[in-house]
Amino acid sequence: MNRRTMAWMMAASFLGAAGCAGGEEAASPVVTGSEKVLIAYYSWSGNTRFAAETIQKLTGGTLFEIKPVKAYPTDYRACVELARKECREGSRPELAGKVEDFSRYEVVFVGTPNWWSTMAPPVRSFLTGYDFRGKTVIPFVTHGGGGMAHCEQDMRKICAHAQFRKGGAFAGSGIRQAEQMLAKWVNEVISIRK
Ligand SMILES: Cc1cc2nc3c(=O)[nH]c(=O)nc-3n(C[C@H](O)[C@H](O)[C@H](O)COP(=O)(O)O)c2cc1C
Repeated sequence: MNRRTMAWMMAASFLGAAGCAGGEEAASPVVTGSEKVLIAYYSWSGNTRFAAETIQKLTGGTLFEIKPVKAYPTDYRACVELARKECREGSRPELAGKVEDFSRYEVVFVGTPNWWSTMAPPVRSFLTGYDFRGKTVIPFVTHGGGGMAHCEQDMRKICAHAQFRKGGAFAGSGIRQAEQMLAKWVNEVISIRK
């Protein structure tokens, strides 16, 4: 477990903030070709990146890192404070880089750390920056004990015209040992046409 995730877990249990993922019915997997799969993610300390890279290997899709123009502070406390303000305000920080030819993708995995029970602000910017009509969005989240919290429902609100598949929530502390769990969930939500 990395120190930052552990610090969050301690704070979460102190605040009684433990949550759980979804409680939503599983839908049939979306069937598509690997060239039509995009895996977009933001990661501050590497856990969500690991999950994204694993999903990329499993699907053969294209990986895209969501990067804010102004990086978040590397100091944990400073980052937590700034994130608290931005998450409350629903900030959409400016992003560096664009997905090339976004229209060619049918399925977009969208990955975020759970920040203050919602998505990290750069992910909010990402979701508002493209046209998701006709796309299938599959959220994935890494967290420090709070689970999916509002991440998926907030993504659904922003992408009201997209279809969704059941999101996956994974503990950040155990993500490097969670490849089987990730693979099980990926198989539930997507089937790659050969
Ligand atoms: C600014 C900030 C806010 C966080 N807020 C929460 C939270 O509300 N609930 C939770 O379970 N974990 C929270 N965490 C812990 C992260 O969600 C967890 O460590 C995650 O795996 C980090 O992903 P990353 O390495 O891709 O950045 C927070 C961490 C940071 C840095």
